[in-house]
Amino acid sequence: MKYNIFPRIRNFEFSLKTKYWLGNCPIKTLFVNALSFYTPESERFFIRTVKPFYKNIHDPILKENVKNFIRQESNHQQAYTQYLRELVNKHYPKLTSKNITQPILALAYALGGKKMGLALTVIGEHFAAVLADVILNNAQMLKEAPSEMRHLLLWHCIEEIEHKAVVFDILKQFKGEYLYRIAAFFTITFCMSFAYFKIFWQMMRFDGLHKKWSYYKAILYFCWGKPGIFRQLIKPYFAILKPRFHPWQQNNHELIQIWENKLSKRYQIDELHLNF
Ligand SMILES: [Fe+2]
Ligand SMILES: [Fe+2]
Repeated sequence: MKYNIFPRIRNFEFSLKTKYWLGNCPIKTLFVNALSFYTPESERFFIRTVKPFYKNIHDPILKENVKNFIRQESNHQQAYTQYLRELVNKHYPKLTSKNITQPILALAYALGGKKMGLALTVIGEHFAAVLADVILNNAQMLKEAPSEMRHLLLWHCIEEIEHKAVVFDILKQFKGEYLYRIAAFFTITFCMSFAYFKIFWQMMRFDGLHKKWSYYKAILYFCWGKPGIFRQLIKPYFAILKPRFHPWQQNNHELIQIWENKLSKRYQIDELHLNF
């Protein structure tokens, strides 16, 4: 499946007046905050691993898509930096963004070389696309978010799905063996789980929620209940381990168009209403 991707420029102003900005629910809010926390540095890493391949890509569509992939990720990086700055300044002044899994990724990149770096990005992008699909299919969850946060998440999800095969196709073109994908899958899964758990725990502690058992029960239900977020994520996430996997085997292009229409019809953020 071949088609062009393009960056949609968005300008955001975040105010995050309420700490639990997602429906006044600490679990949902902390979940999104934690998942977003390392977005800027992850996307910087992704761009860094893709750039060395650019000049040797000869397929004009793929080359154009790589350029636009980099633009999209740079825009996400900037928008998420703004949102996280607001979050930390206003609600978590002592929270540090130091990610101790970064040295593991850097080591894997240094030992495995450029193809390994690309494979790590393939897995990171796969996770982002699978998560984006789950979020867009559960977008009623965002109904209670402030409009700029709703807009940020929907915009990011659309572009993550749209460019989900770009890095995968580069790796394929440069004959990145299946072994790279497997090694990258376990490295990224470990690093992401550890980093997300750490930041989620830090926010819980900061808010004094870690002493309340009812929160642990609610988190478990939110992640693994019916229809829990992780329950929906797990099968598509592991699908990348199939040797003949390609991201567009799950064709959710229609989902992009549905949400794109909803976003572009009403460009003004405050006028964006979700119809379910
Ligand atoms: Fe992104
Ligand atoms: Fe991405």
